Amino acid sequence: MKALLTGLLDWTDARFPLTKMWNEHLGQYYAPKNFNFWYYFGVIATIVLVIQLVTGIWLTMYYKPSATEAFASVEYIMREVPYGWLIRYMHSTGASFFFIAVYLHMFRALLYGSYKTPRELVWVFGMLIYLCLMAEAFFGYLLPWGQMSYWGAQVIISLFGALPFGIGEVLSEWIRGDFVVSDATLNRFFALHVAAIPLVLLGLVGAHILALHHENVGSNNPDGVEIKKQKGADGIPVDGIPFHPFYVVKDLMGITAMLFLFAVVVFFIPEFGGWFLESANFIPADPLQTPEHIVPVWYFTPYYAILRAIPHKLTGVIAMGAAVMILFVLPWLDTHPIKSIRYRSFLFKALIMTFAVTFVVLGYLGTQPATALFSEIGLRFGELYFAFFVVLWFYSKDERSPQTTYITFAVLLVAMLLVDAIRFDEAKSGLMLASAIAPLAYLVVFVLGPLATNLNVSKPVPARVTS
Ligand code: HEM
Repeated sequence: MKALLTGLLDWTDARFPLTKMWNEHLGQYYAPKNFNFWYYFGVIATIVLVIQLVTGIWLTMYYKPSATEAFASVEYIMREVPYGWLIRYMHSTGASFFFIAVYLHMFRALLYGSYKTPRELVWVFGMLIYLCLMAEAFFGYLLPWGQMSYWGAQVIISLFGALPFGIGEVLSEWIRGDFVVSDATLNRFFALHVAAIPLVLLGLVGAHILALHHENVGSNNPDGVEIKKQKGADGIPVDGIPFHPFYVVKDLMGITAMLFLFAVVVFFIPEFGGWFLESANFIPADPLQTPEHIVPVWYFTPYYAILRAIPHKLTGVIAMGAAVMILFVLPWLDTHPIKSIRYRSFLFKALIMTFAVTFVVLGYLGTQPATALFSEIGLRFGELYFAFFVVLWFYSKDERSPQTTYITFAVLLVAMLLVDAIRFDEAKSGLMLASAIAPLAYLVVFVLGPLATNLNVSKPVPARVTS
């Protein structure tokens, strides 16, 4: 039997690089020996991707992409198709789990500087994946043809209408394929959701892994030490261990924990209190009745909060787009030679944590009604969001001259004052003044802080990984 299998493998290897691929990506892929909790989310995202593809294919077998039948076909899947409810809940839960995994995966990159040289392209492919995921989730959300599907699409597509010189109108009509969201829109969103975007996504995930496993790239780690720079006499990194079996076994633990949580949600709380499946989407789409609050799903809400905080529609759309696109240039903004947060200064650690809090607060604000207070807080947190990227660049060098410090402070302050001057509203002046404390304090602490204190001093980085 063994001889037969070895023979089959030899026969295959002579025609297809099976063993070569196995060795390059698993058996002889030497990963740093100190991966921690944060390194589970790449493989978890991969598992969720598989879940989405398989359940998506099964849903497509019963779903009808037509405005008259879509809603009923989803109800049919839920009530009549054997285990249809399970497949549908796995798919809807998978969408949220995908974003949870990807946000934590991206945050890990921020913690350990994984986007820095030589992993810039790993990050850029990751960002393209992120854009595709957002498009995939947006197109998919129209398919159940519920109230939120319909009105969510209506709102988002109409944002393109804000573009000037008549371009906006033409563009939004082109996207919809009609003057309003209609059967034509549903048909094209279906095609994009089930075929076009998944194909691009798969290609990008392949490119993401290939870039990571390329010659002298390889995985980063919680110490940010390049293990490929220290190889033994055998040419193997001294701090590396083969991915298989060591990390395959470790990842199985993470995958099991994730699947357990996934099952809890799917079987007990599939709507997750309206966060994963919104209650308004259990009502069929009605073009004549706008829901009271149109709120996107949680993974879009940080950007939605930025959009809504700005009263001028086109500026809001540009700010929202910029909030996503700025992430692309992270490797070129943060060029500090130390990768891992472990060896960066106290202020850098505080900066990263403040950014995480800013993102979560924006996410919360995006789910709330757009009252004057929430819009004001949204605007201030939007300012903190963008200021982060400037401060990240500012922290690329341990020491900045007083001149650079004051110029950076002044530029950020003037930008903030300019925003306030443009949007000034006598009736809200008290609120504007009070809320200005947040960005002011941010600038004083993070920009002037390094000048007045020694809180921006990095620690020495060890030559080898530490654990
Ligand atoms: C479908 C979504 C994604 C999948 C399946 C995926 C998969 C993976 C896998 C398997 C790894 C290696 C294991 C690990 O480091 O955890 C990895 C590494 C990495 N990914 Fe992703 N990824 C996805 C999305 C993203 C996104 C959206 C970004 C950022 C914008 C990103 C940035 C990175 C970076 C920087 C690394 C290298 C990390 C290091 O070596 O420290 N990925 N990815």
